[in-house]
Amino acid sequence: MAKTKVGILVSGRGSNMEAILKASKSNIFNAEVVLVLSDKADAPALEIAKASKVPTVFLDPKDFPAREDYDKALVDQLNKAKVGLVCLAGYMRIVTPVFLKAFPNRIMNIHPALLPSFKGLHGQKQAFDYGVKVAGCTVHFVSEEPDSGPIIAQAAVEVQEDDTVETLSTRILEEEHKIFPQAVPLFAQGKLEIKGRKVLIKED
Ligand code: GRF
Repeated sequence: MAKTKVGILVSGRGSNMEAILKASKSNIFNAEVVLVLSDKADAPALEIAKASKVPTVFLDPKDFPAREDYDKALVDQLNKAKVGLVCLAGYMRIVTPVFLKAFPNRIMNIHPALLPSFKGLHGQKQAFDYGVKVAGCTVHFVSEEPDSGPIIAQAAVEVQEDDTVETLSTRILEEEHKIFPQAVPLFAQGKLEIKGRKVLIKED
């Protein structure tokens, strides 16, 4: 079976992208990262991708009059690379309907909280400050409302009494690095079926 071509959108550190890249080296991964796009020229993720010989493109939002124009340019790049799955890995912009329509049910995001709790920025800090006993992370399909699409995978992380936001975030990130690379091949193998709000994972 041909491997699904994956495009990853980043804005910063790139550790989730790196986890997907590492996992994609395995023969059973079924997907290959063909393009990394960034909205930040200095995103460390770009250097990591280049070191792995993955093509990278930086598109500056300032060069586009509207968010839709920017997203159209992203879509053009992804289509040129024949991308079948888009992963948002620490991508800090909200995608517009232009982008969603170009890749229906083919965009995944990783969020550092157990959705639907603690949407938006700094999910780990929101959860920590709220005093939850169990925090975690979520991989979900992207829909128009941020952090709200059907959930593909989640991992729970217990909060310890001596945790700080930093120690908790580190353990959440370790789980992010597991569940995002697990979700990608499930998609590539055609095992994810969206039924309303639910994502069913088909058996072998
Ligand atoms: C992660 O915590 C992710 O859940 C959130 O942004 C952060 C990105 O980190 N969406 P990295 O760039 O993948 O290291």
